[in-house]
Amino acid sequence: MARTPLMAGNWKMNLDHLEANQLIQKLSFTLADAGYDPSQSEAVVIPPFTDIRTVQTAIDADSVPLKYGAQNVSTHDNGAFTGDISTAMLVKLGCSYVVVGHSERREYHGETNEIVGEKAKKVLDAGMVPIMCCGEALDIRKEGTHVDFVLGQISQMLAPLSAQQVAQSVIAYEPIWAIGTGEVATPADAQEVCGAIRRHVAELFDQTTADAVRIQYGGSVKASNVRDIMAQPDVDGALVGGASLKPEEFAKIIMFYA
Ligand code: PGA
Repeated sequence: MARTPLMAGNWKMNLDHLEANQLIQKLSFTLADAGYDPSQSEAVVIPPFTDIRTVQTAIDADSVPLKYGAQNVSTHDNGAFTGDISTAMLVKLGCSYVVVGHSERREYHGETNEIVGEKAKKVLDAGMVPIMCCGEALDIRKEGTHVDFVLGQISQMLAPLSAQQVAQSVIAYEPIWAIGTGEVATPADAQEVCGAIRRHVAELFDQTTADAVRIQYGGSVKASNVRDIMAQPDVDGALVGGASLKPEEFAKIIMFYA
């Protein structure tokens, strides 16, 4: 089954709405100049909540071939949850994707695999696609137990989902020691874990589901290393942090196939 590569730029807590508008304009021109073909790779930006409306307007105004999403979402529908944002609010803004369980949310906001699974279900039930993050810290990598650790995360995160929901989802493998550090997992490291995740999905659900789910690698992805990573059979895309804030660099990552 052909899986369209998914290149997603996670802006994290960077860029105000004016800067967001500039980045979208620049990214859009750069992609158009370079002859970007969305059938070869799907391009997504994941701005902070305060930028989403601006990003929507910029993309809609010029029919820019980009999708967008959010970095987090509440497990609740509405009500007394100060500071939270619901799936309905994101749907109304035209969001296609929501990142759930990023390691920074896990570390600074105590998000567990169970919460991540609950959020993913909420996102799917609302008609959007979750990008579910997993990945090990350096101590686990050094112990050599990283594959088992990640598969444990996957089992718990996917528990509330049906096979059909998993098939529509995205899983992002992001070794924590490679995030924002310049330390990139080798293509073989990325393939080892992404391949294990796909086999695990086949065991938990079935082969059709495993063949359909898209698995991204994330952690210091740049224009200079994206091709080798994308050449791995079980890597279907990249979740890009720092390099997605530079439009020329991110355009090259999106167009890794060219
Ligand atoms: P990075 O971040 O590309 O800056 O390492 C990746 C991520 O956290 O999604």
